Order: sequence, then structure tokens, then C-alpha cells
Amino acid sequence: MTIPTYTLNDGLEIPAVGFGTYKLTENDGFESISAAINAGYRLLDTAAMYGNEAEVGRAIAESGIPREQFIVTTKLRGRALGFDETMLAFEESRQLLGLDVVDIYLIHWPNPRLNRYLDSWQAMIELKDDGLIRSIGVCNFPRQHLQKLIDATGVTPSINQIELHPYFPQSELRTFHAEHGIQTESWSPLGRGSELLREQVIVDIASAHGVTPAQAVLRWHTQQGLLPLPKSATTERQALNLNSFGFNLSLAELNAFTALERGRIGGLDPETVEIM
Ligand SMILES: NC(=O)c1ccc[n+]([C@@H]2O[C@H](COP(=O)([O-])OP(=O)(O)OC[C@H]3O[C@@H](n4cnc5c(N)ncnc54)[C@H](OP(=O)(O)O)[C@@H]3O)[C@@H](O)[C@H]2O)c1
Repeated sequence: MTIPTYTLNDGLEIPAVGFGTYKLTENDGFESISAAINAGYRLLDTAAMYGNEAEVGRAIAESGIPREQFIVTTKLRGRALGFDETMLAFEESRQLLGLDVVDIYLIHWPNPRLNRYLDSWQAMIELKDDGLIRSIGVCNFPRQHLQKLIDATGVTPSINQIELHPYFPQSELRTFHAEHGIQTESWSPLGRGSELLREQVIVDIASAHGVTPAQAVLRWHTQQGLLPLPKSATTERQALNLNSFGFNLSLAELNAFTALERGRIGGLDPETVEIM
């Protein structure tokens, strides 16, 4: 199975679907991540906050697959915002992953009230210039904070990883991303175990294409140029989620999914909620 790719604004080519690893910790987590690698995932999404960078690193090391075939994303946690703090936190993540170079490093949460994300961004630019990171980006950044990074440094994030699924399609922010060449990554792309995958319109459209509701929702992401990061601890679902490119939704079907819009699932508005 060949997975399509996207090219980031700095030239890095990455798979159009990645594996989310939130909550996959310790030995069970290691087993799930290893199974996902066996299923064919090569873009792995972890974070200092998930407490599983060591498990991700071990799964890669023990996979027998050359390191260069993986794109490993990790994230700077909210409490480590600041220039020196970022340098230290990055080094800790790099050691836990057991990697010389981290492919993608993202600011996990802007925490605007702290007013420190710009210092972190400057540290990340330095780390990239030093060759320790291949691509730098952010998560959960509303447009005015993206604009602040761009205006202050002239360096546009390659990625903004945001909550995105048919209940919360984030059309406005996506337009800003498109105008600035920022790749949108979708977190909770399947609606995080909510009733999304049981919505009748999704069930019916999936069935008409002979695919599962999750596959139909993932295709809704990739047909719009979004990069979904589905998480599953189940081997069978991991494979199904990766293999969602062999059919196309019509424009009316895409719109029918988008019409389910009703807002964030957990209410985590990054403008006001602080996550450390
Ligand atoms: N940057 C951020 O702030 C941020 C925030 C949240 C998440 N993320 C990233 O995004 C990733 C994904 O988000 P998420 O874990 O919140 O939600 P998600 O991927 O939308 O949903 C995961 C849930 O869906 C279930 N599931 C997976 N595949 C399925 C299928 N084919 N059919 C039915 N159910 C299925 C999983 O259960 P099983 O495991 O039992 O299969 C799990 O309960 C995270 O792991 C993390 O890497 C980033």
C-alpha cells in the first residue's frame, strides 16, 4: 500500500496520514505503536506531555525498519515555554526518543497569557538551523498568534495541528493556513470516541462506498488536504484507518459531513484554556 504524501513549506515530504499515540504508554503502548508500524504507519505523533517518547523511540529502534523511513513528531509542553526552557525540553525529548535528529517539533499549546511562545519559537528556529530538527511548527494556534510568529521572525510554521473533525471543521483557520502555506494536521480526527462515527449520514455514506465510518471520515480529511492523526490501540482499526485512500467522496458527501458542525468536543479553546 502506498500512502500519499504532503510537502511542507520547508520541503519536507511527509505521509498524508499519521498515527496518534496519546494514551499509548508503557508496555501496552509500546505494543500498540509497534503494531501500527507493522501496519505501515511511518508518521508517528507523540509529545512530551504524553509520557511515551521512550516507547515511540523503542518501537522505531526495534522495528528493523531504517530510521530514515520515519517522520517522528514530538511537542514542547506548555510548562516549558521560554527560550532556555525550550532548549532543555527539546534535548530531553531527543534523548527519550533516542534520535539524533527530530523530524518535526511543535509547540503543543500557545498559553497566550504566559506570553512566552515567541521565545520558544526563536529557540526552535535555532535548533532547526543547527540541524537538530527538520521542520518546526505549532499546535492549537489561533490566527493572530500565527501572525505574531510570522511578523516577529519571518519564519512561518510548517504545521498547525488543531482539533478538527466534521463536528469542528475550522474553516476560517484553514483558509489562513492555505494563504500562508501552513499544513493543517487534524487532532481527534475521528471525534475521539464521540457519537460522530455513529451519525446516520456518515454511516450511510460509508456504507454506499463499502467502507467503515472511520475510513469515510478520514477520507473527508485527506480529500481536503488535511493530515489526520487517528489513534487506535486496536490492530484491525489501525490498518483500516491507514487504508482510506481507495475511494472518493463526492462534493455533496464532503459537504454533508461538514454540515454536522457543532463545535469543539472537549471545549478546549486555546485562546483561554491553559495546558501545561
Ligand atoms: N496537539 C494536541 O493538542 C492534540 C490533542 C489531542 C490529540 N492529539 C493527537 O491526535 C491523536 C488523535 O486524537 P485522539 O486520540 O484524541 O482521537 P481520535 O483519533 O479521533 O479517536 C480515538 C478514539 O477512536 C477510536 N477509534 C480509532 N479508530 C477507530 C475506528 N476505525 N472505528 C471506531 N473507533 C475507532 C479509538 O479507540 P481504540 O483505541 O480502542 O481503537 C479511540 O477511542 C492523538 O493520539 C494525539 O497524537 C493532539
